[in-house]
Amino acid sequence: MKIAIFQFSGTGNTWYVAKKLRDAFLTYDISCELYSLETSIDVNHIIDQADVIGLGYPIYGSNVPEPIRAFFHQLEQVESKRAFVFCTQMMYSGDGAAIGAKALRKKGFTVRQLMHVNMPNNITDFRIVRWVKPTNAMRLTKRVTRKTKRLSEAVVQNRRKRKGEGIGSLLLGLLQRIPVKLFASKASNLIRVDATCTACGLCVRLCPSHHLTLHDKQLRMGNNCYLCYRCINHCPVQALHVAKRTRVKRPYLGPVHDFTIEAVRRNLTK
Ligand SMILES: Cc1cc2nc3c(=O)[nH]c(=O)nc-3n(C[C@H](O)[C@H](O)[C@H](O)COP(=O)(O)O)c2cc1C
Repeated sequence: MKIAIFQFSGTGNTWYVAKKLRDAFLTYDISCELYSLETSIDVNHIIDQADVIGLGYPIYGSNVPEPIRAFFHQLEQVESKRAFVFCTQMMYSGDGAAIGAKALRKKGFTVRQLMHVNMPNNITDFRIVRWVKPTNAMRLTKRVTRKTKRLSEAVVQNRRKRKGEGIGSLLLGLLQRIPVKLFASKASNLIRVDATCTACGLCVRLCPSHHLTLHDKQLRMGNNCYLCYRCINHCPVQALHVAKRTRVKRPYLGPVHDFTIEAVRRNLTK
């Protein structure tokens, strides 16, 4: 069996889960490649060569991030191809994985395994949700290893593993999705930069959507922010945040101590 996992990760959580999943498949001697949706890849060609595909993403207001929507848009119709979906979330997404599964089914995929993984919160500037505690890396690793092992078992045995597909999950997902969508559509340029910015350019290099640019040592915003929180968390002087009055309390620098954000940006197949 040949598996191709596509993933997008803003701050490293989804990337970490995808890597653990690949490790789990390798224990079955199954070939598994990871593909970052930040890099330019021929998704349809990769899908063509794979027996099963996986899709992973972080949940944003019970919705999928922009690169995942772009991924669905690119997909060609397939016949009898298996797929599984996983999403990472800080607490609850309702039907987070089911959204991805639904989009894949529309393209002809058979999706029988869905998983939600609770990971540390990466929203570090909003008062009501910025209670990001330093991660207990060992506990987190144990949890992710356990969950990915279960998902890989279900995929190998082609056993059904449902998550977020019940009517309750669907309704709770909708309840979160609608207000967040309204908020996001009103604020076309959510990210702010304050006077402490040193124009070091790190955020420009890290931004997956090329939303940020530097002109004459001034940081400029475009209009295609994914709101992934990567720049906010990795700014060395915490000059970036959402909205005027929000402030980063303790930046979230990734799921494990030896994590580097550069790893997420590299093409994971290499
Ligand atoms: C804009 C935004 C919206 C989010 N919305 C939710 C949400 O609705 N429910 C939830 O449990 N987590 C939510 N989160 C938390 C992330 O889904 C979670 O931290 C995720 O693991 C981040 O993954 P990443 O590191 O791969 O980007 C949100 C994060 C961001 C940045």
